[in-house]
Amino acid sequence: MCSIKIESADLKFIDAYYQIETQCFDAEAFSKGQLVYLLTAYNVIALAAKADFDVAGFIVVQVETDDTEFGHIITLSVAQKYRCMHIATRLLEEIEFLLKRRGIAECRLEVREDNSVAIGLYQKLGYQKIGKLKRYYGNAHGLYFKKML
Ligand SMILES: CC(C)(COP(=O)(O)OP(=O)(O)OC[C@H]1O[C@@H](n2cnc3c(N)ncnc32)[C@H](O)[C@@H]1OP(=O)(O)O)[C@@H](O)C(=O)NCCC(=O)NCCS
Repeated sequence: MCSIKIESADLKFIDAYYQIETQCFDAEAFSKGQLVYLLTAYNVIALAAKADFDVAGFIVVQVETDDTEFGHIITLSVAQKYRCMHIATRLLEEIEFLLKRRGIAECRLEVREDNSVAIGLYQKLGYQKIGKLKRYYGNAHGLYFKKML
């Protein structure tokens, strides 16, 4: 089995991120331009899971503020052939570590109500449902999750 390293998401792998993003999401996939915008935004932390000669997955988190500063998971995707190897878990754990190191105590995300795999992952890592987002994904509803770090 190849070794997987979690590192800062380098823009030079944008084609790989885009390919994984479109493999993981249909109409909701970010365009390549949107991914470039996100990966270069001042308030974004983005990590990639790198296999030997391949990108296995990536995560993009935006640091936002309403009543408090929080990390907002914008996208999390793992390529099909690398699933169930705890890569998403490692990406989330590293993001949470980096947020905490910045003094950010909260992480939030939206997920499709019918995405049971992702919901299982988030619940396992201690995220709790705090709301329902009606028709957030076209006709499909979303769920709003939060974790205190
Ligand atoms: C959701 C996703 C990121 C999970 O990536 P992954 O690297 O395979 O996840 P992990 O291996 O870290 O899984 C961690 C936990 O999630 C749950 N899980 C993962 N895959 C699962 C599956 N196919 N069925 C049921 N539970 C699953 C399990 O609880 C698992 O823990 P366990 O292996 O100890 O039982 C991946 O399936 C994916 O990219 N899906 C498409 C994009 C997506 O839905 N992103 C999230 C949008 S909010």
